[in-house]
Amino acid sequence: MRDTVDARSHFEAHFGRRSHGPRAFFAPGRVNLIGEHTDYNDGFVLPVALELGVTVVAAPRDDRTIRVHSLDLDQTAELDLDRPGAGRTGRWVDYIEGIAHIVDSRIHTLRGADLLVTGDVPHGAGLSSSAALEMATGFALLSLAGATVDRVALALAGQAAEHTFVGTRCGIMDQLVSACARAGAALLVDCRSLATEAVPLPAGPVAILVTDTRKKHALATSEYNTRRAECERGVALLGGALPGIRALRDVTEEAFAENTSLLPDPILRRVRHVVTENARTQSAAQALRRGDIAAVGASFVASHRSLQHDYEVSCPELDALVDLAVAQPGVHGARMTGGGFGGSTVSLVDESALDAVMAAVRDGYRSRFGVEPGFLVTRGGAGAREIEL
Ligand code: GLA
Repeated sequence: MRDTVDARSHFEAHFGRRSHGPRAFFAPGRVNLIGEHTDYNDGFVLPVALELGVTVVAAPRDDRTIRVHSLDLDQTAELDLDRPGAGRTGRWVDYIEGIAHIVDSRIHTLRGADLLVTGDVPHGAGLSSSAALEMATGFALLSLAGATVDRVALALAGQAAEHTFVGTRCGIMDQLVSACARAGAALLVDCRSLATEAVPLPAGPVAILVTDTRKKHALATSEYNTRRAECERGVALLGGALPGIRALRDVTEEAFAENTSLLPDPILRRVRHVVTENARTQSAAQALRRGDIAAVGASFVASHRSLQHDYEVSCPELDALVDLAVAQPGVHGARMTGGGFGGSTVSLVDESALDAVMAAVRDGYRSRFGVEPGFLVTRGGAGAREIEL
């Protein structure tokens, strides 16, 4: 998180001093440990919030105007809560516009606000900088309006904002973990009931290492929406044999094995990924509870191979980072994380091996792609909150 004193002076430079000083709110980005492309199939996910995220410095106004300045992009925008804008601009302000209008219409009537936004989650790294932006903004606007924040309702509003104002039919994982995470824990989410359970991360000598391909996830939106449609097709094709299924969440590994003849390629492989990934996520959560890091790591590698070959959302850069990592001593497992087609991988690495692993992965990746990957280590951050200014 950026220096908040710095953020306050930038706020005052843009919006002037207030008799009641501005307040500051923070929401984190995330890295998903396992459970990829399962959330929109009503399945299970196991993400961790980062210590990095988005900070919003905010003060109320007496009208229904929101003025927002992005410190990082040095851009300012203005919107009117009583008049939704003309539509998608493809810019960062779509997220602000989306979350403000949806929170205002669905959760609590808002008042206008001056907002200064700044973040430190790398963009395009698949670490949910946009969910962090939505959750920090929504948390700020609700707090200024005097409302108690219902974190699950806020997460749902962020998802709706993505669907309506951004155009990605995303699941609930990114917003939910950004809103609800506990420090030092992964969050097991049942994406049907939205029940969450904090699963403590091993306190000891194992680190969560995130490695950024520095390849922006190209194709992500169109391919993402295609995968979603393929999953819905899978449910329709299996529905005759398995009456009562509402989503791929309801298909067990046994039921899948008995009904493969109903599924043409590539639907068969898409369904196989989701069914096996749901099972892997639940068993990885159990292994994490009992501190069995070897088992968690093995499920990471199985997940990656399934995403690579069955779900086909990986890319050569992600595959290379996984292959380089798992070849190093001290690495328990690695996989791509997030939507895919670029972005980052997540690895479980012995603390004592971290430096050697990063050096080997950096060298191997640079000699193949001519680019240095980015690294970050997390111990699991906390969810959205007001912070001292
Ligand atoms: C993106 C979406 C999430 C989830 C992941 C894939 O991050 O925003 O809802 O579907 O992809 O697991």
